[in-house]
Amino acid sequence: MLTRTLVPSEMDVREAYALLISCVAPRPIAWVRTCAPDGRTNLAPYSFFNAGGANPVSVVFSCTNFRDGRPKDTLRNVQATGEFVINIAPYWLAEKMNQTSFEYEYGVCEFEAVGLTRAPSLYVQPPRVAESPISMECRLFQIVPHGTGPVAANYVIGEVLCFHIAESLLKPEGVVDDLVADFIGRMGESWYVRATPEAMFRMERPTGK
Ligand SMILES: Cc1cc2nc3c(=O)[nH]c(=O)nc-3n(C[C@H](O)[C@H](O)[C@H](O)COP(=O)(O)O)c2cc1C
Repeated sequence: MLTRTLVPSEMDVREAYALLISCVAPRPIAWVRTCAPDGRTNLAPYSFFNAGGANPVSVVFSCTNFRDGRPKDTLRNVQATGEFVINIAPYWLAEKMNQTSFEYEYGVCEFEAVGLTRAPSLYVQPPRVAESPISMECRLFQIVPHGTGPVAANYVIGEVLCFHIAESLLKPEGVVDDLVADFIGRMGESWYVRATPEAMFRMERPTGK
């Protein structure tokens, strides 16, 4: 295979970012709800997102700095309050999820702007997205900055205090039914993927025999 070596430190930040998101794909999307200290809410999608462990249940997403180096509203709110709710947007919420990535003024809630409904959380202040079939109430564990300036990472690590799962998605064994969840993922450029049953395959773990 003919390959080309690309060195991020020799690239423009925009080029490095575009390359990165086209290589680490598809990514799940955390639709993160936070509150400012005065209670005003905020909602934005974050696809630098994953799970990290189950004892305790741990998740991470990265809020990169804006291109002018400012921190995003989500990061400011998590720093101030230590709480957030991760909602999952299936295919039917993709358009609304995308609309909430618009850079509104600090304090303007994307929630109202795109017409979503609030559902109260049990353990944290930020409400859930009522339309979302999967929500996770989280308490901040740690914020780990990596780099400074435009598009530098701020890893927000959280502990999941509780899950809210739509009954229609929950299998008797207590897991989400991937065949009906209609998950989406983010890839490079403006590409997304939809996890339709035809796109999925199963593979059992090797038994070691
Ligand atoms: C699908 C999708 C995924 C995104 N993922 C991230 C991400 O992982 N990290 C990030 O900093 N911004 C990401 N963004 C951009 C933010 O959503 C955007 O900057 C938003 O305005 C931030 O809102 P806030 O300032 O209210 O937190 C993503 C946008 C979209 C549409």
